Amino acid sequence: MIGGMQLFRLLLAVTILWTPASLAAVQSGVPEYDLPSQELIFLGRKLFLDRRLSANGTLSCAMCHVPEQGFAQNQLATPVGINGRAVKRNSPTLLNVRFRTVLFHDGREFTLEDQVWSPLLSRREMGNVSIGAVLARLRSLDDYQQVFSRIFATGITAANIGIALAAYERTLVAANSPFDRWYFDHQADAMTQSAQKGFTLFLRHGCANCHTLGQRVAQFTDDKFHNTGIGFARSMEAPVRGTRIVALSETVSIETTQSFESESLNDLGRYEFTNVPQDRWKYRTPTLRNVALTAPYMHDGSLSTLDQVIRFYMRAGIANNDLDERMLPFSLSESEISSLLDFLNSLTSSHIDSLTRDARSIAVGDTVSPDNDPSTPHQEKRTSGPFSR
Ligand code: HEC
Ligand code: HEC
Repeated sequence: MIGGMQLFRLLLAVTILWTPASLAAVQSGVPEYDLPSQELIFLGRKLFLDRRLSANGTLSCAMCHVPEQGFAQNQLATPVGINGRAVKRNSPTLLNVRFRTVLFHDGREFTLEDQVWSPLLSRREMGNVSIGAVLARLRSLDDYQQVFSRIFATGITAANIGIALAAYERTLVAANSPFDRWYFDHQADAMTQSAQKGFTLFLRHGCANCHTLGQRVAQFTDDKFHNTGIGFARSMEAPVRGTRIVALSETVSIETTQSFESESLNDLGRYEFTNVPQDRWKYRTPTLRNVALTAPYMHDGSLSTLDQVIRFYMRAGIANNDLDERMLPFSLSESEISSLLDFLNSLTSSHIDSLTRDARSIAVGDTVSPDNDPSTPHQEKRTSGPFSR
């Protein structure tokens, strides 16, 4: 017979053994979070890095959300998808993406689980012609068959692919920056004097009206949509070389511009989701966490440096009829500009290296083996576990 106290002790021991695996440490500056099982995370990570998820086996998620480039892409203003096709917007960072309440620059998706089907099915990104095509490909691969059926009673399904990828993406929490240690943990010397002055300027010039922060948590975004003029400027610049009438049926015809036909990738921002005219050229406020790692900037990658971004705000963005009323001009001395830069640079997490190392710790798919791929920066290899091959 187990007595009451023994039962209590047993339960306590079991709880202590079970909780730490799934509960992640809280990092200052971001909300509390927990993590799903390791096996699910490993499966998601494998999918994230696997080029076989694209129609022709060339492109993985990690090629546009590059671990070494802040899980964004530094090389191009807007990435190149399957068969060299242009993608119209800049790759956002996936660091801290679990905290976003709306996804994409225009907020057209809401959960990470659903979001994965956008890139998988986009003809400009991973080029799969259907959900079924992706499922059939994964089902033909032994390594995935086994792991999926170990984790999910339903095996390889569209929903389960989303669940696994989302599980991995939710591990990409990157807080504990010098700013967090200074602001939330009250370590006076965690951030330089200049960066502290930069933070004062950040507040004084209204940056925090949109890149918001609170008493215990700082996301540096309101997850809302604003017109700063970038989208307007981009649309105005698109050359219109004359129009043409295209007959869609005997009674319906549309007028197109040549630039539209040559896929100039017109971008109307939030309007594309809401169809509300006032939402034209509004884009979601990006988080500023780890912003030093995620150049180039803005939804179209049109500003290459943070210095350019600051000068853009000093001019109150780009004037247009629907410019957000919080966009007001201000002036800064050169030394104030460098303080504001120091502040933005102090938002880089101290966890980046471990997230990058983790992403590169497995060999995936039938691509070049990381052992002889010179572009693989890390030596550490997983030699046992579900995905050793
Ligand atoms: C060809 C490049 C490319 C590939 C491949 C790609 N993405 Fe993206 N990703 C982008 C771009 C560009 C955006 C922004 C698009 C927009 O806002 O309209 C984006 C947006 C996202 C977002 C929203 C982030 C946010 O802050 O709202 C998530 C999440 C995401 N991608 C995950 C993935 C996953 C998972 C995969 C693989 C299944 C993947 N991406 C493959 C380029 C790519
Ligand atoms: C009216 C709201 C608003 C205000 C005020 C504002 N921002 Fe922004 N910020 C945005 C939006 C929206 C974007 C994205 C625009 C786009 O994608 O075209 C952005 C983009 C940025 C980016 C680029 C981030 C990236 O990953 O691309 C930086 C850096 C930035 N803002 C810093 C600041 C600073 C510094 C200030 C104060 C001087 C400021 N912002 C004031 C809304 C605002």
